[in-house]
Amino acid sequence: MNLIDWSPEFELGEETMDATHREFVDLLNAVGEAPDEELLPRLDAFLEHTEAHFGDENRRMAEVNFPPSHCHTNEHENVLLIIRDVRGRVEGGDFEVGRVLATAVADWFRQHAATMDTMLASYLRTGGEVGGCSHGDACGHDHAAEAEQGELTADERG
Ligand SMILES: [Fe+2]
Ligand SMILES: [Fe+2]
Repeated sequence: MNLIDWSPEFELGEETMDATHREFVDLLNAVGEAPDEELLPRLDAFLEHTEAHFGDENRRMAEVNFPPSHCHTNEHENVLLIIRDVRGRVEGGDFEVGRVLATAVADWFRQHAATMDTMLASYLRTGGEVGGCSHGDACGHDHAAEAEQGELTADERG
């Protein structure tokens, strides 16, 4: 059984981030269902992905001066510290802690995708516009068209 199923709510509308997050979910599920002898190599593959995934988001935040980048990069760093610590324990034969980690990271990702990554994707989509529409894609507005027609006031853009 998957630890985490891909869900439409993970689609943030930013192509690179969405592709990266699909890979993240696949590799995390592979850790979750790994037999003991496969746990370390799968955890290593997940760690390698996660270092690149977070590194890419951190770099993009720096490029566009994303305002809450400090908070977002700190969260990435804390998660990586935990994964690296657990990786060492799995290497020492504690497989159970590896499985607990995979479950905890799945829970963490649901939160992180819904908050920090959603904000970042929105910021990147709007070309770094402060106050890009906070309604998200689900609100039914054609934001691009409205913005072009100048119909959105600063207030409406939220
Ligand atoms: Fe992410
Ligand atoms: Fe992130």
